[in-house]
Amino acid sequence: MPFTSLMQSAPGPETVIDGARYLYFAGTSYLGLAAHPEVIEAGCDAMRRYGVHTATTRARFGTNPPVREVEQRAAEFFGTEDAFYFSSGYVANHIMVAALAPEAESVLVDEAAHYCVMEAARLTGLPVEMFRHRDAKDLARRAQNKSRVLVMADAVGPSSGTLAPVLDYLQALAGCNRALLLLDDAHGFGVLGDKGRGLLDELGLWPRANRLPALQGVSLFVCGTLAKALGGFGGIIPGTREFVARARVSSHYFDGASAPASAVAGATAKALEIVATEPGLRTRLRENTLRLRAGLRRLGLDVPASTTANLGVTVGDESTMRRIHEALKACGIMVPYVGTYSGIPPEGVLRFAVFANHTDAQIDRLLGELRSIL
Ligand SMILES: Cc1ncc(COP(=O)(O)O)c(C=O)c1O
Repeated sequence: MPFTSLMQSAPGPETVIDGARYLYFAGTSYLGLAAHPEVIEAGCDAMRRYGVHTATTRARFGTNPPVREVEQRAAEFFGTEDAFYFSSGYVANHIMVAALAPEAESVLVDEAAHYCVMEAARLTGLPVEMFRHRDAKDLARRAQNKSRVLVMADAVGPSSGTLAPVLDYLQALAGCNRALLLLDDAHGFGVLGDKGRGLLDELGLWPRANRLPALQGVSLFVCGTLAKALGGFGGIIPGTREFVARARVSSHYFDGASAPASAVAGATAKALEIVATEPGLRTRLRENTLRLRAGLRRLGLDVPASTTANLGVTVGDESTMRRIHEALKACGIMVPYVGTYSGIPPEGVLRFAVFANHTDAQIDRLLGELRSIL
């Protein structure tokens, strides 16, 4: 989709783009809440009650109730003592490194990490070195003999849907004199793990995340966004009371930037409430991810081994993928061709996204059209 495209409806299984209605397998509203009527009504209600926002930073005159509600509901969702909610997942890593850089002497960052991870790595002011994408051996080699090293990576590739090999990273870092592993789980929060808390939840490592002092040799840290699976908007850092308090004061997002707008916070709080009361949403999302992946594999496509709601597939070269994208579009189905983005091969990918509210019939229609196009 070119950036000049106009999205003329809310993102959902059917989305209007440039005047045409598409069966939509793009974007990130994975749990299907971005256009939920209760979410929208909660957003409107918050704006009516509190205006656009407090028009001051949180540290000066306080916080709108919906902003605090998001933090309380996020803490419940993540099973943590508290959470820090701010206006964009893009700055989540910036806030995290402000809190963690004093603990580190150098940074190792996955060469294909998201732009915001790269920028945050540089913001530390520490020496920054890249390690090969998802390569624990290269990480081990570079981390060897380093002490107090901060390692940064995406937990889930935003366009590829591949997972960081966290267990291998932990092994790779075991010999270091203290290491910190910081993951951006923008695409795992709400999708992966028994409780939907992301990749660390899936790996049984969640209880070790975002606590001070660290429980074991390599300390684990994670940040993300409520703007993708969780159907809201804004960045989130859940954790112990102590860690969240440190995250609030280490950077100036708490005392030098506006909090998320009331409408956005009200909508996000409602989306979190719905996720908590309707666990069936995540079950349905998991079923849909499995149905799509199984179908793509039956077509002979090379699908990453994960259960994320986003996945990138490379089929031939750029012109082949552009042809497939156009042919699907002509049938009224939107699957974007992504030519450049962090973490994808040089030829690009067809980037699929599946939502909890896609029906089996919609997924099967995509697979059927793909079968005749390939
Ligand atoms: C890995 C990753 N981190 C952060 C972000 C930014 O999050 P937000 O859209 O909430 O600013 C994105 C968005 O695409 C992302 O893919």
